Amino acid sequence: MRDDFLPLSRPALGEEEVAAVAESLRSGWITSGPRVAELEGIFREATGAPHAVAVTSATAGLHIVLSALGIGPGDEVATPSMTFASTVNQIVLRGATPVFADVDYGTLQVRPDALAARITSRTKAVIPVHFAGAPADLDPIRAAADRAGIPVIEDAAHAVGTVYKGVPAGGPPRPDTPGNIAIFSFHPIKNITTAEGGMVTCYDDAFAARLRLLRFHGIERDAWQRYGKGGTPHYDIREPGYKYNLTDLHAAVGVVQMRKVAGLNARRAELARRYFAGLSRVPGIDLPQAVPYAHSHSWHLFIVKVTGMDRDGFIGALAERNVGVGLHFPPCHLLSYVRERFGTREGDLPDTERAGKGIVSLPLFPGMSDADVDYVCEAIRESVQGVRR
Ligand SMILES: Cc1ncc(COP(=O)(O)O)c(C=O)c1O
Repeated sequence: MRDDFLPLSRPALGEEEVAAVAESLRSGWITSGPRVAELEGIFREATGAPHAVAVTSATAGLHIVLSALGIGPGDEVATPSMTFASTVNQIVLRGATPVFADVDYGTLQVRPDALAARITSRTKAVIPVHFAGAPADLDPIRAAADRAGIPVIEDAAHAVGTVYKGVPAGGPPRPDTPGNIAIFSFHPIKNITTAEGGMVTCYDDAFAARLRLLRFHGIERDAWQRYGKGGTPHYDIREPGYKYNLTDLHAAVGVVQMRKVAGLNARRAELARRYFAGLSRVPGIDLPQAVPYAHSHSWHLFIVKVTGMDRDGFIGALAERNVGVGLHFPPCHLLSYVRERFGTREGDLPDTERAGKGIVSLPLFPGMSDADVDYVCEAIRESVQGVRR
């Protein structure tokens, strides 16, 4: 049994990130500036989207996107319930109603037919999630949204490096067509991190300009442009905005992380393959199923479903063996406030609820060794067999 605790996740940060932050600190410009501009450029290139707007979190990104779309009371937004609560919170905080679509039990991806069935004349947007780093099935989701004349907001919080049918998350379906709005997260558990941070990508020039206003008080030019050489200090505000601009200190970390992301994701994929090999014959554990369309998985999370024993007992047995785990996610339609306000209840979404009872996210981060994965697999085998320590 190992003495040290193996956490669910640990950010892959090294001396290059430390040096980038130090350089930014020494430069005399620490809030949004050249490093933010660089990170936005990297995202435009990586996704193929013409606009990238850096923000303080994916949640902040979602807030300004829903605001810029004018979503408010009386409107509905369709999304899976199997997602992080921040999405639902942001919909509700705008005064709108979240409506939930079921997922596929095996892949945990939102079912396009279920999402399409939730679209009504009140629906103002759909938010599919690229769950755990595999892409949602965007083509039929886009087709349904196009028929309704509403935008698709890709929740790409798990999807830096994810590819759907040859197109990166946040990218255009074909070079000649506009794509979706997409939101990425740089929280420390994610595939790249800036401590906290996020990025919105989009296609429409006016929409991007609106996001930039909402990100920073409603002021058209950020402080870097006003106080830098050749800038003018004047400004006007036509609409009040929020304070969601990413700082250069954070963006400096993101720039280094994006240089490394292909290698980091390749290591995640190796670890995932090792989990599949190590757990393939363990009874009472359902392994993640692959989505049935062309894709590249960024392996943000490795989520098993415990079916052969009590889930809390399983988590406790792993904790006894010094292994940390996560729950991604308790279904949103069963959160107390969502039930109370919107009347959602057990039985609404059978696959989400079945999955929700069994899901456990296993440790997965690039700094893990092969031996760490083997240790977790052995700990799981012992746990399901009821081996006492
Ligand atoms: C699916 C999903 N959406 C949105 C978010 C919010 O990201 P952030 O923490 O950057 O606000 C998360 C974060 O865990 C997430 O998992």
